[in-house]
Amino acid sequence: MSRPTFYVTTPIYYVNDVPHLGHAYSTIAADVLARYQRLCGADVFFLTGTDEHGQKVAKAATASGETPQQLADRVVTRFQSLWQKLQISNTDFIRTTEPRHITAVQQYFQRLLDSGDIYLGEYEDWYCTPCETYWTELQLVSGACPDCGRPTEKLKEASFFFRLSAYQERLLRHYQENPRFIQPESRRNEIISFVRGGLRDLSVSRTSFSWGVPVVPAPPHVVYVWLDALLNYLSVLGFLSPDEAAYRAYWSERPQDGRVIHLIGKDILRFHAVYWPAFLMAGGEALPTQVFAHGWWTHEGRKMSKSLGNVVDPNLLVERYGPDPLRFFLLREVSFGLDGDFSEAALVQRLNADLANDLGNLVSRVLTMVERYRGGVIPPCTAPTAEEEQVRGAAAAAVRGFTEAMETLAFHRALARVWEFLAHLNRYVDAAAPWKLAKEQAPRLDGVLATCLEALRLVAFLISPFMPGKARELARQLGMEEGLEAPAGGDWRRWGGLRPGSRIARGEQLFPRLEETPATAAGAASSTAGPAKEAGRQEAAQAGPPAAGSAATISIDEFQRLDLRVGRIRAAEPIRSSKKLLKLQVDLGDEVRQVVAGIAEHYTPQELLGKQIILVANLRPAKLMGVESNGMVLAAEGGSRLVLVGLDGEIPPGSKVR
Ligand code: ME8
Repeated sequence: MSRPTFYVTTPIYYVNDVPHLGHAYSTIAADVLARYQRLCGADVFFLTGTDEHGQKVAKAATASGETPQQLADRVVTRFQSLWQKLQISNTDFIRTTEPRHITAVQQYFQRLLDSGDIYLGEYEDWYCTPCETYWTELQLVSGACPDCGRPTEKLKEASFFFRLSAYQERLLRHYQENPRFIQPESRRNEIISFVRGGLRDLSVSRTSFSWGVPVVPAPPHVVYVWLDALLNYLSVLGFLSPDEAAYRAYWSERPQDGRVIHLIGKDILRFHAVYWPAFLMAGGEALPTQVFAHGWWTHEGRKMSKSLGNVVDPNLLVERYGPDPLRFFLLREVSFGLDGDFSEAALVQRLNADLANDLGNLVSRVLTMVERYRGGVIPPCTAPTAEEEQVRGAAAAAVRGFTEAMETLAFHRALARVWEFLAHLNRYVDAAAPWKLAKEQAPRLDGVLATCLEALRLVAFLISPFMPGKARELARQLGMEEGLEAPAGGDWRRWGGLRPGSRIARGEQLFPRLEETPATAAGAASSTAGPAKEAGRQEAAQAGPPAAGSAATISIDEFQRLDLRVGRIRAAEPIRSSKKLLKLQVDLGDEVRQVVAGIAEHYTPQELLGKQIILVANLRPAKLMGVESNGMVLAAEGGSRLVLVGLDGEIPPGSKVR
């Protein structure tokens, strides 16, 4: 059976400026998607490139005393070297000044001329002579040029037009019939109302400058930069060239389950969701499957801009933190589709909490124990206990949740599912206490270690699209000879892929802890952070129970992520088939929450009625014995006693605890 095709693209970036964090974000997201699809067995084509024509580029070249081509040749290397540093696995890289692209644009322009979708007319708008730019009435600032502030004048110029107005109904029908064509949903609604508002024909050639693809039959016209740029998605596939094999495979004759996804920033959605499909409809070409517009990054609350001097340079971040942690942070921190705010302090905090603590320490603890107790050899899986069954169940749930999230490009959610699984594993190791099992020479130790190793094997696969380098290193340390590239022996998702008897290869800490930067760090260009030489931390990574006082410290910001609330228990009842759990209804002032608490051996339901408690109110909902729980009640544990945390006085339900 043939593999489904998957064609994913980034925007092609203008070469009038060097790459910044925003460009890196789009390209990393596309790379994660491409790697994930390869892991699922798809036949992937992943494209990125540069947009080298147009007035912006021509102007930047004049300013730097170069020809536009010289500028493009210089700046393109900045993009290419950054993609290498970020481990971007693109299949091809298109430059719009390449002959393969130019000829495709010229032929398509001619096709649309021949069909009458492009016609010669007159363009009239507000022109700024010093900037050589047309502006629409709406773009003007008090009648003046929005760039330089000088007066503009109404000018007319001959121009070719694309008959966009003729495509309004077809576009609306396409959005209607393909509800996932534009994502996220809010953006889709925006575009639908824009198109419903009516479409004007679009000027698609210019004569006021010459840096563009010449319109062959009508010099000195050059093709409007967006018609030129958008066609990159086809020209790279050999469209209208003697060899159209890739174009047919990934675009025009792609299999039923073959997909084309354009990943872009929200700033250029209209071009991709309105103009591009209309250009394609006019030429009788197939449409992409989906256009996904992600949000924008600001820097410490402000728009990134050259004039503010706050543009974040991804090169510096890669040097400081490495490519994998940066990739992880960008996709974990913000829901894909929403805007995000970048700060180096937040980056360091997340890397310490998620990577150094939750993942790095776990790997280090498990591998140290396998070395210490089993001479570095992977032990056999013994018959699973109830706890091991739970780990397997959690693994299956994590893989399911991860897959569902990845299919809708919810990268943040996919990672959250992996980290929920890691939290389960960390709890499992603490409860199973392998160091005690080793002391007692308990036969169960093999099963515990094998379960941890197998769980980490799965984690290595799950994180590999996001952190390919670290995942490869994790696989190596786990002794996975076949690595992660071509999952041998069937489906990597299935439990039981590690081979008992093979050797692990414990190495360097995967994620050394970083010194926290002050919350006010000026940003990527000025603050520093590096691996800390924190003895306590290293200790915590060793095998054995956590030593008193060695618990990781957290920052005030991390603490503030907890939403602790005063609650009053309004109802309590046992949960059938559980000795430990009670189902509580907790009054939080403006809502009543159902919470499952493991206190049935310490309190009767009757005793609890009316009690004031403290609830962790922003804990992710979970199901315990099939009963939904929306929070956690705080209690103190001493020996065999468990006492609910109360308050030293009455205070209304819902009050915040800080
Ligand atoms: O628009 N946050 O190129 P461009 C997130 N050549 N993403 C950002 C960002 C930010 N602050 N700033 C930029 C062009 N981006 C055209 C595209 S495609 C046929 C032609 C990302 O160099 C985001 O992906 O201005 C945005 O869409 C893209 O960079 C714009 O890059």
